[in-house]
Amino acid sequence: MDHTLDITLTVNGERVNERVEARKTLVDFLREDLALTGSHVGCEHGVCGACTVRVDGAIVRGCLMLAVQCDGAAVVTIEGLSDSGEVADLQAAFEQRNALQCGYCTPGMLTAAQELLKRGAMPSRDEIREHISGNYCRCTGYHAIVDAIEAVAKARAGRP
Ligand code: FES
Ligand code: FES
Repeated sequence: MDHTLDITLTVNGERVNERVEARKTLVDFLREDLALTGSHVGCEHGVCGACTVRVDGAIVRGCLMLAVQCDGAAVVTIEGLSDSGEVADLQAAFEQRNALQCGYCTPGMLTAAQELLKRGAMPSRDEIREHISGNYCRCTGYHAIVDAIEAVAKARAGRP
């Protein structure tokens, strides 16, 4: 029995038509079918945030969503955020403040951070911590990540 479906969506602004297995997760689809390997797979059950991507303007867990659920959707991955320059300041701040070591969490962390910062309000450190609490980092201890996000929030707000 055929368990595949045809889907059409946009990924990083480009139209994609693919036939996918009905049970394939969004993150596996992105990585295996589209070779967009910036989104990582960690826990595979919605806990670690390594697979975070944006779907129709909001971040989701790529391991908890099926590719077929994205039929008609606009998906943006870390590759899209990076290529457009949308997170260039966050990437620079993460590098400057050593907010990554192995980098496994970093695509999801940047995607989550941008979700918070694009709201426009100046978040407190506690609000930054709360917002990234669904993104696990096994290396940094989080302080440098919060520092980097806070620095970018201030810079975007024009604050010293
Ligand atoms: S791999 Fe999706 S939340 Fe961990
Ligand atoms: S830098 Fe290694 S998990 Fe975050």
